[in-house]
Amino acid sequence: MNSVVKDARKAGERVGLTAESITVRGGNPLRGRIEVRGAKNLATKAMVAALLGDTPSILRGVPDISDVQVVRGLLGVYGVRVTDPSPGELHFDTAAVEKAHFAEIDAHAGASRIPILFCGPLLHRLGEARIPDLGGCRIGDRPIDFHLDALRAFGAVVDKSYEGIHLTAPNGLKGAEITLPYPSVGATEQVLLTAVRAKGTTELHGAAIEPEIMDLIAILQKMGAIISVEPNRVILIEGVDRLDGYRHTALFDRNEAASWASAALATHGDIFVGGASQAELMTYLNVYRKVGGAFDIEDDGIRFYHPGGELGPVTVETDVHPGFMTDWQQPLIVALTQAHGVSIVHETVYENRFGFTEALVKMGADIVVHPEGMPNVPRRVARRAFEQSAVITGPTPLHGADITVPDLRGGFSHLIAALAASGESKISNIGIIARGYEHIIQKLEALGADFVLEG
Ligand code: EPZ
Repeated sequence: MNSVVKDARKAGERVGLTAESITVRGGNPLRGRIEVRGAKNLATKAMVAALLGDTPSILRGVPDISDVQVVRGLLGVYGVRVTDPSPGELHFDTAAVEKAHFAEIDAHAGASRIPILFCGPLLHRLGEARIPDLGGCRIGDRPIDFHLDALRAFGAVVDKSYEGIHLTAPNGLKGAEITLPYPSVGATEQVLLTAVRAKGTTELHGAAIEPEIMDLIAILQKMGAIISVEPNRVILIEGVDRLDGYRHTALFDRNEAASWASAALATHGDIFVGGASQAELMTYLNVYRKVGGAFDIEDDGIRFYHPGGELGPVTVETDVHPGFMTDWQQPLIVALTQAHGVSIVHETVYENRFGFTEALVKMGADIVVHPEGMPNVPRRVARRAFEQSAVITGPTPLHGADITVPDLRGGFSHLIAALAASGESKISNIGIIARGYEHIIQKLEALGADFVLEG
């Protein structure tokens, strides 16, 4: 069994999904109601923030996904008592936080990228941090240079070895002026989680301002932090001596909501996404409307549906917030294979995030990827060297195929392509999808999908 297959199986097993593959009989619209809970990309960071509190924290709306289980396991290694008195609610007791053995930390190597965010909180609490080899989706190099440079600016000493990364702070951590070369979500979180208890003020320039970052700031403020978000991607953090625990309900998962919305469009369906809210999805909703999708915004969620008639082509470029998220393009591309005309999607956040389109081409889609991107597209932030463009010509009927899931969002798009296609598709490595989509099998059942699990 190769390492990707093993990782996929482990990810699935963490949330009770033991099947290795799913065979889908496509051609039926997805119809019904599903609920989205807290965002993977917030809940996991909120769990790390609990480590900074001297008193217990309570997080509600926590999704049952394997990334949450990985972070829970790692918190346990450091002596944080994590309990779940009811579904979706986690309690964190940090009274017995202690140093961990490297073997225990290393057992979490390769499972997620979140461990890098433990650096600041561990340095504050224990004076040192050991970080295992990181995991996460294979969608490019995904370096951590911004993280390590920021930690060094606070006074951390970073030693890299074959075992991972070891950090110490011989003179404590002090507030710093930091300019990120790119508004990285993770590096911004790294700075926030470190600066809140550093001595003095931190001035962060070029910060990411995604809604998940704002929700993390809200949590830190509940804990006692002083953080102000200034114009032009500047965040000021005044360090405090002590933080308490928090009680918080996680922001809904807008990436999951957008995924189901695209699934409704691709399968000619009608899906009510309970828990979704408009403000965080505005950019997505504009594109959805331009393509020809319809939505009704209600107090408790959003109904997304194919209103009949032809879908139209669109040109989008992924971007940092408030732009079109890179995590939204994969399911949307499946819907665009059914639009009449030529659509173009420019990926500007990651250098290698169109690999999943190969499987769509195998299923009958007409997608040409330009690995060098296309010139003259305006950018929200300074242009990066990495860029790719995908040109999608539709509509093309999709037919079933055997597919191996490459990464989280790509995997979800394969699943909905199979549901939209005529005939049968076998999709392997489905555990990867469980890393970020809660109760995926139950939700497919609720929406009337026709499938069997195997392996
Ligand atoms: C977060 O990843 C999300 N993951 C990603 O979601 C999301 O796609 C991404 O933000 C962008 O919104 C989590 O929150 C766990 P970045 P993150 O740092 O923080 C480069 C999903 O499917 N970079 O904003 O790792 C990097 O290579 C996932 O849910 C450096 O060069 O993203 C990328 O090209 C996938 N050096 C760009 O910046 C660094 O030190 C943006 O990455 C850090 C990042």
